[in-house]
Amino acid sequence: MELMDIIKARKSVRKYRQEPIPREDIIKCIEAARLAPSAENVQPWRFIVIDDPEIKKEFVKETCSGIYKPSSFIKNAAAIIVIVAKLDLVANFLGKGIQGTSYYLIDIGITGEHLVLRAQELGIGTCWIGWFNSKKAKNFFKLSPRHKVVSLISMGYPAPGGTKSKRDLDLDDILFFNKDTKGI
Ligand SMILES: Cc1cc2nc3c(=O)[nH]c(=O)nc-3n(C[C@H](O)[C@H](O)[C@H](O)COP(=O)(O)O)c2cc1C
Repeated sequence: MELMDIIKARKSVRKYRQEPIPREDIIKCIEAARLAPSAENVQPWRFIVIDDPEIKKEFVKETCSGIYKPSSFIKNAAAIIVIVAKLDLVANFLGKGIQGTSYYLIDIGITGEHLVLRAQELGIGTCWIGWFNSKKAKNFFKLSPRHKVVSLISMGYPAPGGTKSKRDLDLDDILFFNKDTKGI
């Protein structure tokens, strides 16, 4: 499949068939994530795969309740990928301190999207989840203060009605050449 076909076919999937994903396919997705670029090549990402039904249930109960309840649909996903960032890396200090940019968040975005696009290629639906209790997620795995759980990605074979239609901005809305920025 052409890359552009994969990009066009990807949609956030929030309903899943009750079918496990073979670990080897999950590992293929992590392998795509592993090859992502990162600021200063620090590769701040670590991935925790939750594919055990009991642990998944506990994790979702812990991290997707109260105000985070809208994200609890991920309990029906075959697997949840927990993307952890290592914060004690020099690019993070330089980026945040001097440039005012948290490079690790950019790095996590890129690696996560590598994962998502490879999943799409394998017929696996995904949804990025930024709305969850990150502190509780960190405690769940007893991670140190040098780590942050930045995002979750749910994974599962798409069930009917699990995607929403959306409007993507047109190129005219987002693309500018040279100094003709129209005030952006
Ligand atoms: C960083 C990030 C965080 C997101 N968090 C959530 C979330 O917590 N819950 C959810 O249902 N969707 C979440 N999404 C999915 C977006 O709502 C979705 O990508 C957007 O509406 C565009 O739809 P599409 O992915 O189908 O193209 C998130 C997406 C990104 C990139």
